[in-house]
Amino acid sequence: MEGPAGPQQAPQMNTPAPTETSPKPRALSPGWRIPAGLAGLLMIGAGAALALPDPARAPGLSGTWRMDEPKDSGVVLHTLIALRQDGARTDAVVVPNGAVEIPIRDVRTDNGDLVFGIADWGWNFRVRPDGANLHILLSYDRGRTEVVRTAVPATASDLLPAAMPPPALRELPANGLAMTPPMGWNSWNHFGEAVDDRVVRETADAMVKSGMAAAGYTYVNIDDTWEMGRDARGEIVPNRKFPDMRALADYVHARGLKLGIYSSPGPVTCGGYEGSFGHEEQDAATYAAWGIDYLKYDWCSASRLYPKARLRAVYQRMGSALQSCGRPIVFSLCEYGLGDVWTWGPAAGANLWRTTGDIQDNWDSMCANGFSQGRLARYAAPGHWNDPDMLEVGNGGMSPAEYRTHFSLWCMLAAPLMAGNDLRAMSEDTREILTNREAIAVDQDALGSQGSALSRRDGVEIWVKALGGGARALAVFNRNAAERAVSLAWPELGVASAPSAVRDLWRHADVAADGRGYSGSVPGHGVILLLVK
Ligand code: GLA
Repeated sequence: MEGPAGPQQAPQMNTPAPTETSPKPRALSPGWRIPAGLAGLLMIGAGAALALPDPARAPGLSGTWRMDEPKDSGVVLHTLIALRQDGARTDAVVVPNGAVEIPIRDVRTDNGDLVFGIADWGWNFRVRPDGANLHILLSYDRGRTEVVRTAVPATASDLLPAAMPPPALRELPANGLAMTPPMGWNSWNHFGEAVDDRVVRETADAMVKSGMAAAGYTYVNIDDTWEMGRDARGEIVPNRKFPDMRALADYVHARGLKLGIYSSPGPVTCGGYEGSFGHEEQDAATYAAWGIDYLKYDWCSASRLYPKARLRAVYQRMGSALQSCGRPIVFSLCEYGLGDVWTWGPAAGANLWRTTGDIQDNWDSMCANGFSQGRLARYAAPGHWNDPDMLEVGNGGMSPAEYRTHFSLWCMLAAPLMAGNDLRAMSEDTREILTNREAIAVDQDALGSQGSALSRRDGVEIWVKALGGGARALAVFNRNAAERAVSLAWPELGVASAPSAVRDLWRHADVAADGRGYSGSVPGHGVILLLVK
C-alpha cells in the first residue's frame, strides 16, 4: 500500500507570523525527480562536478546559485537554484530553503528575464543576470509579498554532504510510551516561524488555565524554526528566539506538562533550519539534557540523500539514539505517509507516524486527511498510532460544526490530539470542542482500536470505533453542505440488538434508546457522535 505524497493542496495561508516575511514551508514530497543533466549541478559526493556559471556564455545563467534569506532569529536560510540553458531552452532545479529538490522544466522568458515558479510552495521567481550574481524578484504568499534578492554562485559547502551508510535493520523494542494517542499542542499550524520562548511559556500557562491540561493535554511541542546551527563541538544550538531550552523545559515541567521539539534526519529541516544529519546521538543526548519529552522528526531534506527504501533505516538511527539517551522521549515520525510507514514504524521505535501530507485549515484538506484513514485502522495500537496531522480547531478557517467534525473524526481515528491553535486566545466554542471530555474518552480509550467507516452513502458516512468493555463509538458524518435527516436501523449501525444506553457526546445527553434504531438530523458538514453500550 502506498501512502499519499506530501504537497497535494494549495499553500498554507494561515501563518500569522508578525515579524517574519516568508511563507510557511510546505510539506515535501521526496517523489520529485531531477531531470537528467541537472542532478549533477546539485550533488557532490556522487562524484559529479559542481557547475559554476559560465560568464562567457550569454546570458550566463547556467550553474548553481545560492539565494540567502536572513531571519530576525539570526538564522540565514539558503535556497539553491540550479539553471541549465540549452539553446533556447532553460530548465531549473530549485531547492527552497535547502529542503527538497524541485525540478522545473521549460523556464519561460519574459522581457529578457527568466520566469518560473514552484506551484506547491507558491513561490515565483523573475531572474536576470547582475554582474557575477543573479538579480531575483521573488513573489510568494499568493503574490501578496514581493522581495528583491541576490543569488551568488554556490560553492561546494552549499551542496549536499555524502549520505551515510544506513544502519542494518533491526527491530527496536517498544519504549512503553504513548499507550494512548499523545495529546498536546504543536506550534506549527498557527504560529509557523513566529514561535518563540514566550509563546511556548504562555501556551503552557494557557493549557493549564483553559482546562486543557485537566482534559488530558500534556505535550507542548515546538515545531520547526527553533534551530540556529552547531557549535565547535557539533552541539545543536537554538536561535535567538529560544535563549535557554533547559530553563524552558523546567518552566513547562513545573506546570505538570511535557516539552517537545522538532528536527529532521536530513541536513536541514523543511524550513531550512539545521537538521540532525550525522549528529543523531549527539542531538538525542542534548534533548535529554534539556529535558525534552517528545521529538517530531521530519523527513524533508533527507529526501535529497536517501531513496524511499531507506526511510526505515534512517528513522531507526534516531529511534535507537533516543532509546539510549537516558530519557523517555516519544518518537513522532513525519514522512507524509511515504514508504508504507505503518508497516515498519514500530520496529523503527516510532510512537506515531504521519499518514498524510500537511493539513490545512479548511474543510477539503481536513476531509482529505481524515476520511481517508479507515484503511490504516489495523496498524494503530497502544504505543504506536497513525497520525493524520495536527488539529486545526480554532484557527479560523472552518465553522464550529466543521471543527466538531474534525475533532470527532480524529477521536474516531484514535489519532494524536495535537491542538494547533493559539491557546492563549481561544473562543469559548474552540475551548469547548478541544476539551470535550466525552469525545476525548473515545480517542483515549485504552483498547487503542482505530475506527473505520461502516458505510458511505449520499455524503453521509457512518464510522464505528470499538471501545473497551464492549462499548462502541458511532459517528454519523454529514459531508454535504445541507442538513440531512438520518434514520438508521441498529443493524445498519453495526449494532446487533437494541443497545441498553445511547449517549450523544456533543449534546452531553442520553438519547432515549429506540428498539429499532437511531434517527436524528445532522447539520451540513456536521456530525453526531454517539456512545453506544
Ligand atoms: C513539514 C511538516 C509540518 C511542519 C513543517 C515545518 O511541512 O509536515 O508538519 O513540521 O514541515 O517546516
